[in-house]
Amino acid sequence: MKRMTVLGATGSIGCSTADVMLRHPDKFTAFALVGHRNVEKMIELAAELHPEWVVMTDADAAKAIEGRLPAGVKLERGMDAAIALASANETDMVMAAMVGSAGLPATLAAVEAGKRVGLANKECLVTAGRLFMDAAARSGAEVVPVDSEHAAVHQCMAGHDRGSVSRVVLTASGGPFRDRDPASLYTVSVAEAVAHPNWDMGAKISIDSATMVNKALELIEARWLFDLSADQLSAIIHPQSIVHAMVEYQDGSVLAQLAMPDMRMPIAYAMQAEPRLQTGIDWLDLAATETLSFQSVDHARFPVMRLVQDVLAGEDSLSIAFNAANEVANAAFREQRIGFMDIVTTVEQVLGRVDNVPVGSLDEVWLYDGHARKLADEVIAS
Ligand SMILES: NC(=O)c1ccc[n+]([C@@H]2O[C@H](COP(=O)([O-])OP(=O)(O)OC[C@H]3O[C@@H](n4cnc5c(N)ncnc54)[C@H](OP(=O)(O)O)[C@@H]3O)[C@@H](O)[C@H]2O)c1
Repeated sequence: MKRMTVLGATGSIGCSTADVMLRHPDKFTAFALVGHRNVEKMIELAAELHPEWVVMTDADAAKAIEGRLPAGVKLERGMDAAIALASANETDMVMAAMVGSAGLPATLAAVEAGKRVGLANKECLVTAGRLFMDAAARSGAEVVPVDSEHAAVHQCMAGHDRGSVSRVVLTASGGPFRDRDPASLYTVSVAEAVAHPNWDMGAKISIDSATMVNKALELIEARWLFDLSADQLSAIIHPQSIVHAMVEYQDGSVLAQLAMPDMRMPIAYAMQAEPRLQTGIDWLDLAATETLSFQSVDHARFPVMRLVQDVLAGEDSLSIAFNAANEVANAAFREQRIGFMDIVTTVEQVLGRVDNVPVGSLDEVWLYDGHARKLADEVIAS
């Protein structure tokens, strides 16, 4: 029986994790569920999963949930409680599914404590990839990716010689604007950008998919997870989101992983790779799908894919700035303070103004992160 701590339990990945746990009550039990503000969802989850602990990291939400949890479920508040429970002896596995860099300290604590960590929170590797992988090497923590693309790479590499890998290709659906006239992208609404054709996800990541920043973040993530160089990494548009990634070996053999686009598959794989868990996702019917198509990424429509090449070849401070500037710009777009195409322009302008240096501690990560956010605010204000 694995005792789970779910960081970001109330979010899209958190709820899909709960779905997998509820299908396998003989294999997983909830030790702690951590949410931020969504009190009603947390009450629902607590009733279904009966965790030992609930944490609301937001103080007002913690107050609002007081007295409303099922009998026997204990309540804590704040990020320190999340950190303590993610690294507690009673936790066997942590699902790291908070959104944004807020998820870093609790996830790093879990890695340092040697837990099995299902890593959905991509900002962890994007902003502190070196720290995370070094910490995992020291503690023996197993970091298993939850993103469908990285879970695919993980499966295509399992049992194979890492030194024989020549290239890794991540697929991208191209999001809602794949076929849209690039000139019209300047005026798209938030609702249009959030409406992803294949995946049902949170608002921030849906907009990241529309700009393809999400794919850029995934390339950075893959760099750290699989120890790859910039020239070994690329992305290709695959509108059906059936093939999630491909790994090419030096003899020319290419292994791909296919599955219906449903996050319960990579989540279940991260929770227990083998033997495989039942997930309830639809079976893949390739005859019904008929076509699996691929096309190269158009840099005029998705300028971030050109920009990320420098980030992949550069040092940690560039990845931190890339992520931070995008978080600020993504939020500004959602608040209708900037246009859709201004998101990547903001990131580009911030990257042009930061140092390109390695980063050795979480404090340094926050320093570069804060600096990039300030620059992004300045760019947006101007
Ligand atoms: N959704 C996907 O299909 C998918 C796929 C691959 C990777 N990911 C990655 O997985 C992570 C989660 O994505 P998601 O789609 O599940 O996001 P989401 O639906 O927006 O959920 C985010 C979760 O993080 C919590 N949260 C938000 N702000 C927080 C803060 N300041 N401090 C602590 N917790 C906070 C939220 O709590 P409340 O709701 O209670 O406020 C919620 O539980 C992201 O890093 C995303 O990039 C997602």
